[in-house]
Amino acid sequence: MSNAPIGVFDSGLGGLSAVREFLSVLPCENIVYFGDTGRVPYGNRSSVTIKKYALQDAEFLLKHNVKMIVAACGTVSSVAKDLGGVLPVPYTGVVSPTAFAAAEKTKNGKIGVIGTTATINSHSYRNCLNKKHPEFRVYEQDCPLFVPLVENGFINKDDQIVRLVIKRYLTPLVDAGIDTLILGCTHYPILREAISSVIGDKVTLVDSGMETAIYSAKILKENNLLNESKSKGTCKFYVSDTPDGFENIAGLFLGREMEHKAEQISIEEFKSKG
Ligand code: DGL
Repeated sequence: MSNAPIGVFDSGLGGLSAVREFLSVLPCENIVYFGDTGRVPYGNRSSVTIKKYALQDAEFLLKHNVKMIVAACGTVSSVAKDLGGVLPVPYTGVVSPTAFAAAEKTKNGKIGVIGTTATINSHSYRNCLNKKHPEFRVYEQDCPLFVPLVENGFINKDDQIVRLVIKRYLTPLVDAGIDTLILGCTHYPILREAISSVIGDKVTLVDSGMETAIYSAKILKENNLLNESKSKGTCKFYVSDTPDGFENIAGLFLGREMEHKAEQISIEEFKSKG
């Protein structure tokens, strides 16, 4: 079982920013990635739809005999909170690991959270932070223009459009005095440099992909599921829309070239009952 792959999914490409962190934290693990590119974005859909999609995505990964499932999607992790309870393998989303990391990093207890509209409306990060630390002040902001900016390659820190959008969303959080900012959507690490450049380096950015990779390593260890192999793991990529051009944009998220081509699958064939 420990040689089995880790299943990672997202509504699209954003979860690849988490895969990048998995490759550095757990280089010997095999990964099966599913990006629901045919149905992205999830962030402005109803919770019923997001839960149905999340179950289908997990069901697809289970067909690959994965030993663990990771929802590398802030929206799924925030809305489909019960997903782990219906799966036969260990599961994590990105909210708890990222919130715990932010709680460790803040010094003044003022934490900003940015994410999709569904993530922010769920108050998932705020609830998780305030459950353990009721004294924390959590400032939430949805940033619906960030995902289309990233998907269209608008990521450069010197691009005036990018800077204006970041400034518009983040100025109220900076004015509120946050010292820590949770990048609560897996697309946002791609804008990390631009965000830092606009809001300054006094605010610590917390990347959900990195924290989730570290947390997943802990779960695998606790369950004796770490791959003991010393050789580099493999990554397989599946998408629900045409893979044309996927490799080019995927390289941006992964921070390196893809070794294998992505394969298109029909996600609607997978049942959505847990
Ligand atoms: N990757 C999604 C997330 O982390 C953002 C894209 C979407 O709206 O589906 O929330």
